[in-house]
Amino acid sequence: MRIIAVINQKGGVGKTTITANLGHALQIAGHRVMLIDMDPQAQLTTSLGIFRLPTKGIDTVLLDQMPLEAVEIHTRENIVLVPAGSKLMEIEHLNDGGVDRATLLDGALQQENPEQDFILLDCPPASGLLSANAIMAADEVLIPVSGDYLSLNGVAHLLTTLKKFEALRSTTLHRWVVMSRFHLRRRLSKEVKSKLINHFPNKVLMTEIKEAAALAECPAVGRTIFEFRRTSSSAQGFMQLAQDLIERRTY
Ligand SMILES: Nc1ncnc2c1ncn2[C@@H]1O[C@H](COP(=O)(O)OP(=O)(O)OP(=O)(O)O)[C@@H](O)[C@H]1O
Ligand SMILES: [Mg+2]
Repeated sequence: MRIIAVINQKGGVGKTTITANLGHALQIAGHRVMLIDMDPQAQLTTSLGIFRLPTKGIDTVLLDQMPLEAVEIHTRENIVLVPAGSKLMEIEHLNDGGVDRATLLDGALQQENPEQDFILLDCPPASGLLSANAIMAADEVLIPVSGDYLSLNGVAHLLTTLKKFEALRSTTLHRWVVMSRFHLRRRLSKEVKSKLINHFPNKVLMTEIKEAAALAECPAVGRTIFEFRRTSSSAQGFMQLAQDLIERRTY
C-alpha cells in the first residue's frame, strides 16, 4: 500500500483536481484506491459527485475514533471516498495533545489497515495540523506546482514545513513533484519546469498536467475527466501520470 499526501499550502495549484483524477486513473490501471478529503472546504467530496455533504467523515474518525468503514462512501468500483465531515476545521484548532495531535490520521490508518493499493490524501491550502496529520500518515508526498512564478516561492515554504514534521518521523518522506496547470506555449511554464528539474532531480514526474477547460468543468458536474471527457488529452495525461507514479518515471 502506498499512502500519498497531495500537498501544497498554496491555494489553487490543482491538489484536488489531481487527487480526484489521478485516483480514478489508478483505479482504471487496476488498483484499489481510497481518497481522503482532508480539506474542510470538502472540494474533493463534491468533485466526486457528493453534493449533499455528509456530516460525518474523516473528522469523526480523527476526533471521535469512529471506524473508517462507518463513514466511507463507495463512489465508484474500487474507489472509496472518505469525505471531509462538518467538524474537520476543529482539528486545525486543537490546543491540547502535543505531537499526538499530528498523528491522529496515522493512528487511525495503522489501526484499521484498510486494504487498498493507494491512499491519496487531499490536503487543504494551509500548513497547520490537518496538513501535519497528512504528512505524518503518508509515506510519500506529491507536490503539485503550477506554472506561475509565485508557485516556486511556495515550494520553498512547503519544504520547510515538510522538514519540520519529518523530524518527528522515523522515516523520511519520498517527494514527488507534479507540474500542474501547465501552459505548453508559455515561456514562464517552461522556466518553472527547468527550475523544478534542477531543484528536484529524480523527483519531477514526467507528465505535466496541462491547463484545460474540461478539467475546470468536471467538479461542477461531480465527475472525473474519465467520466466527462474520456478521450480528451487531459484524460490521457492523467493515465500517463498514474504510470509515472507506478513506475517511478521522473526527470
Ligand atoms: N489543469 C487544470 N486545468 C484547468 N483548470 C484547473 C486545472 N487544475 C485545476 N483547475 C481549476 O483551478 C481551480 C483550483 O484547482 P484545485 O481546486 O484542484 O486546486 P487546489 O490546490 O485543490 O485548491 P485549494 O488550495 O483551494 O484546495 C479549480 O477551479 C479547478 O477546477
Ligand atoms: Mg483543494
